[in-house]
Amino acid sequence: MNISVIGSGYVGLVTGACFADVGNTVLCLDVDERKIALLNSGGIPIHEPGLDTLVARNAAAGRLLFSTSYDDAVAHADVIFLAVGTPPDEDGSADLQYILAAARSIGQRITRPVIVVDKSTVPVGTGDKVRDAIAGELAKRGAEVQFDVVSNPEFLKEGAALEDFTRPDRIIVGSDNPAALKQMRLLYAPFSRQHEKFIEMDVRSAELTKYAANAMLATRISFMNELANLAELLGADIESVRLGMGKDPRIGPQFLYAGMGYGGSCFPKDVKALIRTGADHDQPLRILQATEDVNERQKNVLFDKLVRHYGSAGALHGKTIALWGLAFKPNTDDMREAPSLVLIRALFAAGCKVRAYDPVASAEAERLLLAEHGQARCADLLFLAASAKEAAAGADALVLVTEWKEFRSPDFRYLAEQLRDKAVFDGRNIYDLEAVSAAGLSYEGIGRINHAVHP
Ligand code: UDX
Repeated sequence: MNISVIGSGYVGLVTGACFADVGNTVLCLDVDERKIALLNSGGIPIHEPGLDTLVARNAAAGRLLFSTSYDDAVAHADVIFLAVGTPPDEDGSADLQYILAAARSIGQRITRPVIVVDKSTVPVGTGDKVRDAIAGELAKRGAEVQFDVVSNPEFLKEGAALEDFTRPDRIIVGSDNPAALKQMRLLYAPFSRQHEKFIEMDVRSAELTKYAANAMLATRISFMNELANLAELLGADIESVRLGMGKDPRIGPQFLYAGMGYGGSCFPKDVKALIRTGADHDQPLRILQATEDVNERQKNVLFDKLVRHYGSAGALHGKTIALWGLAFKPNTDDMREAPSLVLIRALFAAGCKVRAYDPVASAEAERLLLAEHGQARCADLLFLAASAKEAAAGADALVLVTEWKEFRSPDFRYLAEQLRDKAVFDGRNIYDLEAVSAAGLSYEGIGRINHAVHP
């Protein structure tokens, strides 16, 4: 099939490259000329494992094209995916200006039947708005062209997006037209054939399914974070509790990890948007509101532990804290809503210096921190190290922020020599309490039995 993807961000690029790889001809459009120029010269604007090779292979084969031209994108396609951003408005609701602008651009140009597929995460009812926008433009031109609007939400995890796309748990497609559903089923057949993954429903249910899934996962995380904070006070270990709970098949083991709170481009935004939708319909979503409140508090949990460890916020003044990891999760350079930013803000405010290392997100973190704190303050307070060891060297304490693989088995004796206050704070519970303590380091995780030796 001939496919166009509007929006060459994270979702659009992964979608385009994966469909090209199974033999479709895909044109990826973006209005950002620099991004398209980069892609056309063989570069990739984001870090996602395997995506560079996949894009290069399909671009070389002539199956993956990049353009800034709507004329080209619309002329090319039987199926057009909308994968543009839906950032939160000031009131938390999703901002639909980009998606509706894309719909109008399509309506201004189509001359033959087309399926328009909404892949962006959008509030329930957006499918109707996209349909109206396209129909409105057709009416202005006095043109009559058959088109369908289909909802097909994405469930891609950053860092595992190619795997999620090519071996999905499920493919959700919402439409009221059997012919459009049939074409979508054909398109996804290469990823669905072995086990039936394709679930058909109406457009509104498909739109709500995406929010429901992300809201449930976010709620599990906040639930575990709240329980972890209680476990600490009770002298229980949340890691044992997690294992014990997760073995119940009704609960399952995933997304039960206590930590520094969820971040990223999806959970925070989608939770806010669904809360807003509930409020708009006079149906307040109380559990989800609590999920969000707990998450905001959890982003401060490590700073609070540092304050308790040193006795007061004042006692932190002048300390140098090493941070391992800055990205909101491993295998990505994405810093959106990253808990590390909240921690660094608090550390700077307390008069601490930060020595940070992240395998890929340092440049993006530096850009954001410079914009927020200014050149002079960053020059004084922030050092971005080239390795985990360099970050730890000469610091007073270490905080593990993102659970990158390379941080999993550190040389604790080296850390004990380097860290002046011999203190390790583990924001992801990846270290073995005994191993850390055996090296003479104090250890604090999230919701774990406290082995700290306070100074
Ligand atoms: C998420 C969804 O998983 C994906 O299906 C959707 O399409 C987009 O949003 P992503 O944001 O890439 O994907 O990351 P994910 O792996 O889900 O993690 C989100 C956040 O939750 C991260 O900050 C992570 O550290 C945190 N998390 C995750 C926990 O704190 N505990 C857990 O047990 C799992």
